[in-house]
Amino acid sequence: MRESRVSVDDLIYPVFVIEGNNKRVQVPSMPGVERLSLDLLLKQAEECVKLGIPVMALFPSIDASLKTPDGREAANPDGLIPRVVRSLKEHFPELGVMCDVALDPYTTHGQDGLIDETGFILNDETIEMLVKQMLAQAQAGADIVAPSDMMDGRIGIIRDALEAHGLIYTKIMAYSAKYASCYYGPFRDAVGSASNLGKSNKAVYQQDPGNTNEALWEVGLDLAEGADMVMVKPGMPYLDVLWRVKQEFQAPTFAYQVSGEYSMLMAAFQNGWLDEKKTIMETMLCFKRAGADGVLTYFAPQVARWLNEEGRK
Ligand code: PBG
Repeated sequence: MRESRVSVDDLIYPVFVIEGNNKRVQVPSMPGVERLSLDLLLKQAEECVKLGIPVMALFPSIDASLKTPDGREAANPDGLIPRVVRSLKEHFPELGVMCDVALDPYTTHGQDGLIDETGFILNDETIEMLVKQMLAQAQAGADIVAPSDMMDGRIGIIRDALEAHGLIYTKIMAYSAKYASCYYGPFRDAVGSASNLGKSNKAVYQQDPGNTNEALWEVGLDLAEGADMVMVKPGMPYLDVLWRVKQEFQAPTFAYQVSGEYSMLMAAFQNGWLDEKKTIMETMLCFKRAGADGVLTYFAPQVARWLNEEGRK
């Protein structure tokens, strides 16, 4: 009688990468999540392939000395992310690689884009840098580029740039309905943007948690501009948005179970307040029921292992 099912195919695994060799650095606000150097990430990637996880999503944590107000390191074709992409595609061509298009891990102020002297985001100047960043990722072999910056008009310009460079197979997953949420806190620790961001927030470009019609406009615009897939983020607190988006557009729609959701659940598991496996699997099912075609989750390897054990790949 079950209407919704979870499968390993539904999973996208977000990971944090750092420079160096044999280096792993725990993210304090995300128990069990580590930033990994490339050699260790390759082992993770091998496990993903064995488990059948189709895609890994990469997020960098770079040295503070490489950060600038305009985040230009993001566009360096020999920067950390392009090097990691090239190596992953060389070792595991069958594993999908997705890259985040946004400047926050690269800016001295922790915003996703360029800002003026008052701290206000500069939409169009930001998009120019995002296109350069995206090209460095796509030319390194990324299968999916995922603009998470929420600037207006960036999907159309990114689509044109992909076409102009002959990158006709690269897919765009648009973070379309991305809310200005406090659930991203632990992620900002992980990529090292939290202290740079300080007390400022991203509310001028991310969405108001009180709005759902706005999410539909944003998704509609991104699809019209050429997105292949859209995303709603955060996940569980925004299942109503996910449902509306899927019902309205019937496009490939993804949910991101974000860092704060992960950390909340981990805190409960560590205290013995919730049953780890049952709770995680229930959250996955809820995403599917609400219309998700896939879920980005830090629990991806555990979920895949449990599904594998049950013979339910
Ligand atoms: C950055 C970005 C964020 C996340 C993914 N890409 C954070 C933010 O917008 O501040 C959040 C992911 C998570 O919390 O797990 N552009």
